[in-house]
Amino acid sequence: MTQPRRDLNQCTNFPNQAAIAWEAGAPLSYEDIEVAPPRAGEVRIQVHHTGVCHTDAYTLSGKDPEGAFPVVLGHEGAGIVESVGEGVTSVNVGDYVVALYTPECRECKFCKSGKTNLCGKIRATQGKGVMPDGTSRFRARGKDLLHFMGTSTFSQYTVVADISVVAVTPKIPTDRSCLLGCGITTGYGAAVVTAKVEEGSNVAVFGVGCVGLSVLQGAVKNKAGKIIAVDVNDGKEAWARKFGATHFVNPTKLSGKTIQEHLIEMTDGGCDYTFDCTGNVGVMRAALEACHKGWGESIVIGVAAAGQEIATRPFQLVTGRVWKGCAFGGIKGRTQLPGLVDDYLNGELKVDEFITHRQPLSAINSAFDQMKEGDCVRCVVDMK
Ligand SMILES: NC(=O)c1ccc[n+]([C@@H]2O[C@H](COP(=O)([O-])OP(=O)(O)OC[C@H]3O[C@@H](n4cnc5c(N)ncnc54)[C@H](O)[C@@H]3O)[C@@H](O)[C@H]2O)c1
Ligand SMILES: [Zn+2]
Ligand SMILES: [Zn+2]
Repeated sequence: MTQPRRDLNQCTNFPNQAAIAWEAGAPLSYEDIEVAPPRAGEVRIQVHHTGVCHTDAYTLSGKDPEGAFPVVLGHEGAGIVESVGEGVTSVNVGDYVVALYTPECRECKFCKSGKTNLCGKIRATQGKGVMPDGTSRFRARGKDLLHFMGTSTFSQYTVVADISVVAVTPKIPTDRSCLLGCGITTGYGAAVVTAKVEEGSNVAVFGVGCVGLSVLQGAVKNKAGKIIAVDVNDGKEAWARKFGATHFVNPTKLSGKTIQEHLIEMTDGGCDYTFDCTGNVGVMRAALEACHKGWGESIVIGVAAAGQEIATRPFQLVTGRVWKGCAFGGIKGRTQLPGLVDDYLNGELKVDEFITHRQPLSAINSAFDQMKEGDCVRCVVDMK
C-alpha cells in the first residue's frame, strides 16, 4: 500500500523551528531547523504539543553519560502525521499521534516474549541518536543534529520510525495526549500493568510528582485499600488526596523512626506494593523494606543519577519481598496506549489536572526552570 507523501522542502511558508541543545549545560536555542522528509519506514510528525520531563533536563545538564550533542531533545509529544515514507501502513497522513520513546515492532524477541514492553528493534540506533538507517533528519547552521529517544519532540516537525508512533482518536486534544507520551502512562502503567495492584491491597507511593500521582490513579482504578502518598514536600498532600491517596506521610517529620517502620505499622506488617517515583536510591531502599514479608513488591520507576547503586540486606529478598522496575510503566505503546486514551475519555484517568504551567516553544527554557519548582507537575509547551 502506498501512502501520499508531501515534501516539506517544497512548501515555502513552512514554519519550522526547534529548540536545539547545542551543548551540555547551556540553555536550548530557539531557531530555524531543516527537517528532511521521512525515508522508508519513517513518519514525519507536525508536533503540536510537548511536555518537558526530567530526562530531557538530565541529558541537557550533561550528567547523562550517554548524552550527545548537538541534539533535538523532547520525548513527550503529540501532533499530526504530516507525511510518511515508503512502506508505512500503521499510520496515515492526518492521523493524530503520540510519539513513543519505547517503540513496539511486534516482531523482535522482546515484543514476542509477552513478558516486557521493551523492544529491541531500533535500540542501538536510537541510543546513538540516529534514525534506523544510521543517519539524521535534522540540520541547522549547516550541521547534522542528533535525534533523542527516537522522538525529538522539541521541533515543530520531527521524524520517527513507524514503530515509534501510535495513532489515537482526535477526541483527546494534543495538549493532553502528549502527556501520555511519558509521565502519566509511566505511573499508571506501573500500578495497573507492571504491579497489577489487587483490590484491597495496601500501596505506598514515594514521590508524588507527575509519575507518582499517576501511580495513585492506577491504584484507585484497581481498587487498592490504603493508598499512602509519601513526599518530602507538604504542598503535595492536597495533590495526592485529589488523585486518590487515603493517607499522606512526610518522611522528614517522623520522630524516632524510619519511613519503612512507619509504613509497616500503618499497614499491619508492610505494604503489598510500593513504588519509587523519586529516583533517589535511599528512597528505593526504604520502599523495598516497607513491603510486606512474604509477598510485598517494590517497583522502581525513578531514574537515578549516573553511577548510583541500590542496596539492601539480601535477607529482605530471601524473606519474599520482590524488587523490580519498569520503563514506560510496562505499557506497549502501539497496543495499549489507545486504551489509556479511552480511560481518559471515560473519566477514569485524569490528565487535564496535571497541566500546571504552559509555555510557547520560544520560551521552552522557562519550562525547564518551572519543572524544578515544587508547584509544577507538568508544563506543556505549545509548538505552534
Ligand atoms: N521509568 C520510567 O519510564 C520513567 C519515566 C518518567 C519519569 N521517570 C522518573 O520518575 C521520577 C519522577 O518523575 P516526576 O516527573 O514525577 O518527578 P517530580 O519531580 O515531578 O516528582 C518527584 C517527587 O518526589 C518528591 N521527593 C523528592 N525526594 C523525595 C524523598 N526523599 N522522599 C519522598 N519524596 C521525595 C518530590 O517532592 C516530588 O514531589 C524521576 O526520577 C523521573 O526521571 C521514570
Ligand atoms: Zn519522560
Ligand atoms: Zn520489538
